[in-house]
Amino acid sequence: MSMESKLGLGGHSFIAELGNDPHASFEEQCAIVTACLDNGIALIDTTYYQERVALGHVLKELDRRDEARIMAWNFFKQPGRENELVGYTPYEEHHLDLMLDELQTDEIDLLVIHAHDDTAKLLEELALAQDWVQAGKVKRVALGMAQLGHLRQLPAVHPVSAVLAPYNAFHPEAKEMFKTAKAMGMDAIALSPFVRGWKLDEIGADKDAAAGILLRWAAAEPLIDRVIVSMRKAEWVHANLRSVGRGPLTETEDAQLREWLAR
Ligand SMILES: NC(=O)c1ccc[n+]([C@@H]2O[C@H](COP(=O)([O-])OP(=O)(O)OC[C@H]3O[C@@H](n4cnc5c(N)ncnc54)[C@H](OP(=O)(O)O)[C@@H]3O)[C@@H](O)[C@H]2O)c1
Repeated sequence: MSMESKLGLGGHSFIAELGNDPHASFEEQCAIVTACLDNGIALIDTTYYQERVALGHVLKELDRRDEARIMAWNFFKQPGRENELVGYTPYEEHHLDLMLDELQTDEIDLLVIHAHDDTAKLLEELALAQDWVQAGKVKRVALGMAQLGHLRQLPAVHPVSAVLAPYNAFHPEAKEMFKTAKAMGMDAIALSPFVRGWKLDEIGADKDAAAGILLRWAAAEPLIDRVIVSMRKAEWVHANLRSVGRGPLTETEDAQLREWLAR
């Protein structure tokens, strides 16, 4: 097994919405996850419930659950809206077993609580997550879409050991929050290096080159522990791994990026 990569696989790889490429077939999803696990990408996100169901089937088919580190957020199936991507719901007691069933697993490696401004409710969710850790059903807890204010409101004792937020060259605002989180001993997980695939089209340059530059902007940042990118084709796993392996941007690439940002 190769050393763990800084890349993580995004859950939107398993759905048709929120991207350009058509829905990846089950065979393609298996090829994507295989390419990840074979090449040191162990962290796999699932945001919407449809992604948990898909990943559960893929890992069962591959018989490789133990090699993956599953991340899961609190977006749930809503009656009558099974085919939609619905917003998050604060965690309740019954949610964890639903998630474990969908993922076909006994434990979640990184449970993500979507941050919000109802502090009392967020504290309840943290306490629930702590209970789940103690029960051995959750290994670690993260705060997703975290902002500085959420970190400041955390109680002295809490289970959060990682934060997640969109962070890319076009939206670098999360940097201060990541710095604070790191100072608090947490891992910093950046989402959406490409601002979804749509940004790559908008830039209008050679797509492979643009993807490489945007990905390396995020991945070469020492503050960042992991970058989560969705990939609906197995070939992109290899392309993105090659990009990350090339390290920080050169001066010419940095100038190119600044030109895109200035438009
Ligand atoms: N953004 C958020 O607010 C948010 C919130 C919660 C969780 N997340 C997590 O973060 C993950 C990543 O975010 P994201 O999917 O929004 O955006 P992203 O990772 O910035 O963009 C992903 C898109 O980039 C394209 N792509 C990937 N590699 C490529 C390459 N080498 N060359 C060309 N195009 C490439 C793919 O487009 P096509 O396949 O569409 O062509 C893919 O859909 C999500 O899957 C999810 O797990 C994000």
